[in-house]
Amino acid sequence: MKVCIVGTGYVGLTTGTCLAWLGHEVTCIDADQSKVNMLKAGKCPIYEPYLEQMLQDMLPRMRFAVESPEAISEADVVFIAVGTPPHPKGGPDLSYLREAAETVGRHLDSHFTVVVNKSTVPIGSGNWVGALVRESYRGNGSRSQDHFAVASNPEFLREGAAIFDTLYPDRVVLGSDDSRAIGMLYALYRPVLEQTFVPPPNVPRPEHLGAVPVITTDLASAELIKYAANAFLALKISYINEIGHLAEKAGADISQVAKGIGLDARIGTRFLQPGIGWGGSCFGKDTAALISTAGEYGVPMQIVAAAREVNCHQRERVIEKLLGELKILKGRTIGLLGLAFKPNTDDLREAPALSIVQNLLDRDCKVKAHDPAAMRRFRAEYAGVPLALCENPEEVVRDSDAVVLVTDWQEYRDLPWSELAGTMRKPVLLDGRNFLSRSQMEAAGFTYLSFGA
Ligand code: UDX
Repeated sequence: MKVCIVGTGYVGLTTGTCLAWLGHEVTCIDADQSKVNMLKAGKCPIYEPYLEQMLQDMLPRMRFAVESPEAISEADVVFIAVGTPPHPKGGPDLSYLREAAETVGRHLDSHFTVVVNKSTVPIGSGNWVGALVRESYRGNGSRSQDHFAVASNPEFLREGAAIFDTLYPDRVVLGSDDSRAIGMLYALYRPVLEQTFVPPPNVPRPEHLGAVPVITTDLASAELIKYAANAFLALKISYINEIGHLAEKAGADISQVAKGIGLDARIGTRFLQPGIGWGGSCFGKDTAALISTAGEYGVPMQIVAAAREVNCHQRERVIEKLLGELKILKGRTIGLLGLAFKPNTDDLREAPALSIVQNLLDRDCKVKAHDPAAMRRFRAEYAGVPLALCENPEEVVRDSDAVVLVTDWQEYRDLPWSELAGTMRKPVLLDGRNFLSRSQMEAAGFTYLSFGA
């Protein structure tokens, strides 16, 4: 099928490249000429494992342009995947979405096209996008009948595992009030739903993966599924962090508690990893949006609000724990291992590291940090923050009064910890992700602090 993707951010580019892999003909449109030039040259503007390789393999089947009226008019499916960044006044900034919807409407022709909204938008926006497309579609001629339908097809991809999640999803959600649109999206995703495509070499199909379940529903339900799923994952993390706090006080071991809870199949073991809490572009934004939309209907989202509060508090607990051990923070040197909100990404949006750095600087600490992928982005986006970026983890640890492991990058597991302990002013290690082994760290000479034990 012919697919046009408007917006080549995380979601747009991954979706486009994966759809090309499935055999579709894909044109990606992005207003940023430098991004388009990079993509044409097979260079990936975002950090995502294996995406650049896949993009290069797919170049013959993909086109990139700043604008392409014919790609929109010829497309069977147009995805709108532009950014909806937080607006300074609160809520998402929908100006890119408005612009994209109007552009799509202007160029649609009279063959039937499904316009899929992939941007994360407040519940009910599908209708709004439909209205914008319709207005602009009808505005430029005497077209009185719609030859398009709007659909919602929320994505659940995790950064760092974006290709895997797109090709091997737990489920596919297709929401539209138009049955033709559902039929076309079903056809588009058939190779994923039936798992008939040849897997990319670096992202093999998990063993025993059968057909992927598909939920076909109306627009509003599809939009709500996305928010409700993300909020549930977020509150699962906050729940284990709250239980972890109690475990610390009661002398219990949260890793055992989490396992004991998670092995109940009704609960599940995933997203029960305690620590400094969630970050990233989705959980914070989506929980806030859910609360705000529910507020418009007079529905209080108390559980979701509590999950946000607990998450905020986890970052403050880093300071509490350091204070508990060092007694005085003023004038101390604190080293951070990791800046990104999670491993395998350079994304710093809502990263816990940002508030931890600020909190330590406010307390007159000297702060040093290392991250295997996110330092370049930190330099570019937070140039004014007086954080000393180090070339390697050894430099972070040397002469520090305490080290906080903020991001659970695999390479931090295998550091020569025994040697490192000897280079510190005080061998205090706060493991913000409960990632390292207490017994090994204590044997290496550290005072080991973690969350929930
Ligand atoms: C998330 C959802 O998983 C995805 O389905 C959605 O579409 C987008 O938001 P992502 O933000 O990429 O994906 O990251 P995810 O892997 O979910 O982790 C989010 C944050 O939670 C990270 O900061 C991670 O470190 C933290 N986390 C995750 C925990 O603290 N404990 C856990 O058990 C799991």
